[in-house]
Amino acid sequence: MKAIVAADRNWAIGYQGGLLVSIPGDHRMFRKETLNKVVVYGRKTLETFPLSQPLEKRTNIILSTNRSLSVKGAVVVHSIEELLDEARQYDTDDVYVIGGAAVYRQMLPYIDTAIVTKVDYEYHADVWFPNLDRDPDWVMAGEGEEQTYFDVPYTFVTYKRK
Ligand SMILES: NC(=O)c1ccc[n+]([C@@H]2O[C@H](COP(=O)([O-])OP(=O)(O)OC[C@H]3O[C@@H](n4cnc5c(N)ncnc54)[C@H](OP(=O)(O)O)[C@@H]3O)[C@@H](O)[C@H]2O)c1
Repeated sequence: MKAIVAADRNWAIGYQGGLLVSIPGDHRMFRKETLNKVVVYGRKTLETFPLSQPLEKRTNIILSTNRSLSVKGAVVVHSIEELLDEARQYDTDDVYVIGGAAVYRQMLPYIDTAIVTKVDYEYHADVWFPNLDRDPDWVMAGEGEEQTYFDVPYTFVTYKRK
């Protein structure tokens, strides 16, 4: 399984239910990477999508404790065990954990690759991705060219579990 995330210098990923920054080049990479694949995310992340709708042209798996939640175009699961069970039918390389913080944190043990858009800035934030630079189980495996969106520098970085 993979994780895909945009994080700032301190591995911050969100504030007050939203993203820290919206970078078109990052959205394009996310779309290209996840199209026709399986995306796994928490109910709060669903609420950040336009009209709170699942992502088109992808298999959507949403985690929620709410057993009466039903989302057209998505499968709702109610625990990590149920999620792992549901994901088992797909090639593990095709399954992308796309957030948010609670889901990244719980799914990290099952993730072997993290595709990180590292934004070289410090935002005010209230949610973070686990710091893979400080995690001895992880190593940086590849780094793209630095790009900029207006004055914001960002780089696509891949981390692998050792
Ligand atoms: N920078 C990025 O790449 C990125 C990507 C995604 C999200 N984000 C940001 O992350 C923030 C949202 O993260 P978050 O941690 O607050 O929320 P989240 O992980 O998106 O969703 C949390 C919700 O998922 C459900 N859930 C989590 N673990 C579960 C479990 N073990 N069993 C059943 N349900 C479970 C619960 O839903 P119920 O409450 O319905 O039970 C929980 O409230 C936002 O600011 C968002 O913009 C950033």
